[in-house]
Amino acid sequence: PASTGRRPDGDLTVGGVPLATLAQRFGTPAYVLDESEVRSRCRTYRAAFPEVLYAAKAFLCRAMVRWVEEEGLGLDVCSAGELSLALSAGFPPERIVLHGNAKSPSDIETALTAGVGRIVVDSPAEIARIAALLGPDGRQDVLVRVVPGVAAGGHEKIRTGTDDQKFGLSITDGSAQHAVARVLGQPQLRLRGLHCHIGSQITEVEPYLLAVRRTVGLMARIRDTHRVTLTQLDLGGGHGVPYRPGDPALDLTALARRVREELTASCAAARLPVPRLTVEPGRAIAAPAGVALYRVLAVKRTARTLFVAVDGGMSDNPRPALYGARYAPRLIGRRPVAEAVTATVVGRHCEAGDVLAADITLPGDVRPGDLLAVPVAGAYQASMASAYNLVGRPPVVAVDRGRARLLVRRETQEDLQSRDVGPR
Ligand code: LLP
Repeated sequence: PASTGRRPDGDLTVGGVPLATLAQRFGTPAYVLDESEVRSRCRTYRAAFPEVLYAAKAFLCRAMVRWVEEEGLGLDVCSAGELSLALSAGFPPERIVLHGNAKSPSDIETALTAGVGRIVVDSPAEIARIAALLGPDGRQDVLVRVVPGVAAGGHEKIRTGTDDQKFGLSITDGSAQHAVARVLGQPQLRLRGLHCHIGSQITEVEPYLLAVRRTVGLMARIRDTHRVTLTQLDLGGGHGVPYRPGDPALDLTALARRVREELTASCAAARLPVPRLTVEPGRAIAAPAGVALYRVLAVKRTARTLFVAVDGGMSDNPRPALYGARYAPRLIGRRPVAEAVTATVVGRHCEAGDVLAADITLPGDVRPGDLLAVPVAGAYQASMASAYNLVGRPPVVAVDRGRARLLVRRETQEDLQSRDVGPR
């Protein structure tokens, strides 16, 4: 987790800065990101895998782009928007990979104009579209995204390794083989390898090993059919992190070792050279480095539940509502005097499903004005935040070695109204 510590007054510090001080200075709700934690996670990945792309969808801002660049990672983007932000922060285009199951012409054009390193092809229609936009003399390295038929992932909505979902091209039904043949038929497209992202918040190693065996199997068939040897295998991301004390965690070192062993063995059995391995972690780099801060606005006891309502909610963290995600909020900024009780932390939005954390423990004297910190908030929160109820999205604050600085400012009423052109 973020480099947290507890001070004598009971307050939590992150990156050497007391969280209550940050709440005071930047207001609440707010996202806090520990820069050295992000950097150290990038380094761990770099040491474990030959190529690492940070999945921008987990969290992106210009500072994050810079950190990831400085730590030697590449970047996985899935829209012209993510790509443009990365380029605006000076990220080298050749280290960028473009993803997406429905890339728009503008996504593809922006990528080709920028000169991204690779495009991951996800549909037959896209193959012709990229070739047409390249023109007769253009050249582009591509990977084909395949579906290996592997079920893994923390929630049904974030499983992408099985057939019958919208991503990739199935190995089982032959769509992958078909797409490979089409790519090889386009002289502008240089097929470098296969891509396979089986899901997210995965805490076991085995599904990745199965994905390796099946993708290497396909590589062997491609060699036999087309006499083409692929040199890259991108295994996607999906590495799970613990959100609460006691949650299972994926052992990164074990994953790297066992994937390498499986890849070597599978390739030896198929008499294939071992392709360069790429991974695309998003959550595992950003999530543990973040903390979300809220202020308690109301406390209400019903017959069965103690509701603690805070100044944010499903607009800054839709994960509990979408995936039943569980968090462990903590009281910060003062020493509790009462025993712990069971409470449910809810947001300020206008629906009963706006629950941030059900049935957790908080001090029994929790009261309006208190501050709550929600650890492991660095991924898929800021990036999935919405403007629901026109509340304004929270700022992102970086902490590092005892200092804090603003990375993304709070969304203002003016921002929220700026696109509304008014009645005629
Ligand atoms: N590569 C591809 C092609 C992906 O689609 C994703 C995530 C990643 C890499 C990074 O996966 P990660 O390492 O972060 O698990 N909003 C959901 C997660 C959706 C993940 C989408 N794709 C959540 O909040 O749990």
